[in-house]
Amino acid sequence: MRIAVAGSHGLIGTALVAALRRAHHEVLLLVRREARASDEISWDPVTGRINPEQLAGVDAVVNLCGVGIGDRRWSGARKQEIRDSRIGATEALAGAVAAAGVPTLLNANAIGYYGNSGDRIVDESAPVGTGFLARVCADWQDATAAASEAGARVAIVRSGLVLARTGGMLGRLANLYRAGLGGRLGEGRQYMSWISLEDEVRALTFLLEHPEISGPVNLTGPAPVTNTRFNAALSRTVRRPAPWAVPAFALKAVLGEFAAEGVLAGQRAIPTVLEANGFTFHHHTIGQALDAALG
Ligand SMILES: NC(=O)c1ccc[n+]([C@@H]2O[C@H](COP(=O)([O-])OP(=O)(O)OC[C@H]3O[C@@H](n4cnc5c(N)ncnc54)[C@H](OP(=O)(O)O)[C@@H]3O)[C@@H](O)[C@H]2O)c1
Repeated sequence: MRIAVAGSHGLIGTALVAALRRAHHEVLLLVRREARASDEISWDPVTGRINPEQLAGVDAVVNLCGVGIGDRRWSGARKQEIRDSRIGATEALAGAVAAAGVPTLLNANAIGYYGNSGDRIVDESAPVGTGFLARVCADWQDATAAASEAGARVAIVRSGLVLARTGGMLGRLANLYRAGLGGRLGEGRQYMSWISLEDEVRALTFLLEHPEISGPVNLTGPAPVTNTRFNAALSRTVRRPAPWAVPAFALKAVLGEFAAEGVLAGQRAIPTVLEANGFTFHHHTIGQALDAALG
């Protein structure tokens, strides 16, 4: 297949591009600067500049764009950046997919769509939740409309927390835990729906190869855990005690608004669509996924 990837230099994009190339797919990189190689297409997600003619003959576009959700405190400007880098970028790509007649768009999204689901299990049929992140996810999903209206297959990739050795949240947490500074966050009852980077990439590839799947797809491992269980599992993996408990007020003081939605809230999301279509995970438990990432 000929596959164009936006957000190809990020945590997921880097691993996906490598896997696609290993599988002998032709990969084109959408780059946010001038193109310097024959496999690069220049675009600008801020202004929406992209030449659809450069997507001629492409079988699928995978869009993994967006500034980090938890990288900085959520000022008004940062929240706008979180929205624009996802919604504006997606609108531009969906328009180009429609104009070029690309048959498939896989568009990143997140289980933040469900809001804070507490103990309730949520799959793809659950409604949108409340809060800033849920609103962003809903608008981000809607931003693909031009592609689906033009007849493209659109899969909305609602990823959970992607566990990888470097990058992402685990990349940052692992060093704290190795230093014996790990602990549960708040009450520790909030659910964390995780997926190993390997399974995230395998699931994206699976979606590319299964034209019958469209709409929202949870990319989460089969067994989400509470923060307390995540803490215990990570402590076991790095072989260091993690006895601390960071109180909610301290998290809010340090992380601001992100603490309430991104750290103290959670989703107990399960991968109904993937499993119903025959996808099998390599990493079924949090322990297996953490060992694979860090062991
Ligand atoms: N990692 C997770 O745990 C997780 C969980 C749920 C959802 N997701 C979503 O999945 C997508 C990929 O995640 P990731 O972990 O690979 O993210 P990442 O490592 O932060 O990479 C995100 C990509 O976004 C692009 N980007 C950066 N600033 C941008 C801007 N201002 N406008 C448009 N694009 C910009 C970059 O693309 P270039 O390649 O052009 O530099 C970068 O490669 C994101 O949308 C993220 O929200 C990730």
